[in-house]
Amino acid sequence: MLVVKNLYVKYPETTEYALKNISFSSTPGELVLIAGPSGSGKTTLARAIAGFIPSFYKAEISGEIKLFNRDPISEGISSLRGIVGFVGQNPEMFVTSLTVFEEIALPLINLGYPKEYILKRVKEVARDLGIYDLLDRLTLELSAGQLQKVSIASALALNPKVLVLDEPLARLDKISSRFISSLLKKIARKSKIVLVFEHHLDEILPLADKVIVLNRGKKMCEGTPREVVEHLLNIDVPEITEAFYLAGFKNLPISVMEAVKHYDSIKKRLV
Ligand SMILES: Nc1ncnc2c1ncn2[C@@H]1O[C@H](COP(=O)(O)OP(=O)(O)OP(=O)(O)O)[C@@H](O)[C@H]1O
Ligand SMILES: [Mg+2]
Repeated sequence: MLVVKNLYVKYPETTEYALKNISFSSTPGELVLIAGPSGSGKTTLARAIAGFIPSFYKAEISGEIKLFNRDPISEGISSLRGIVGFVGQNPEMFVTSLTVFEEIALPLINLGYPKEYILKRVKEVARDLGIYDLLDRLTLELSAGQLQKVSIASALALNPKVLVLDEPLARLDKISSRFISSLLKKIARKSKIVLVFEHHLDEILPLADKVIVLNRGKKMCEGTPREVVEHLLNIDVPEITEAFYLAGFKNLPISVMEAVKHYDSIKKRLV
């Protein structure tokens, strides 16, 4: 269970709060999308939940975060090992190993797991993510989509209860973005909390169980994709949603599948 209550964050040397009075909660099995324009506080919220504030980023923080009985604010990143898997905004900056195998194995090596277990676990995670064939490749040679999958695999190695991903779809083409989005949905279904901080919404929005929209550090709204879609029009909505909006429709679809259904029912009414 994740509970965020009245969270405020202010970085040093800034007058404006990066997060103001944020509250929401999530339970295992949920894919939660945290959307918002650039500068709205997505990365700051991801950092706070993953225990980086104030232990790594020396910002002022108040309010409460509870993550499976842990307190990321007072206990910091190390107490969340095995509970939170974090995938940062620029995976190429976080990747430190020469090969894909080493990159996925690193969290397990750091915790001193036996060699046989590490071999088994790395293969298992790589198979789940469809990157088994990449295990011997150099991380430097990977495409953005492949690197993103490797970062997710590494974050999953310790089988965390919560996965926090900061803009995992930003540099991906449509096909990789669709693959990663449905992969994240599958991970959530295995009783995990998956938190996706993102403003590229085409593929992920229809899959989200809950959407939280941030704007200038505040929570603008929270609800199902359908409930929040109008609030997202000024940020980023799936192309198909925008097309229906521009054509003057009131009932906006959030996916191509939904658009087809809308279109069929409109046709029936006209015929
Ligand atoms: N390390 C930092 N020091 C000072 N201010 C920061 C720091 N990181 C973020 N900020 C400020 O906090 C506010 C929220 O930024 P944040 O990076 O959380 O937004 P974001 O929604 O992730 O934006 P983007 O979509 O561009 O990644 C912005 O005004 C930003 O300038
Ligand atoms: Mg960000």
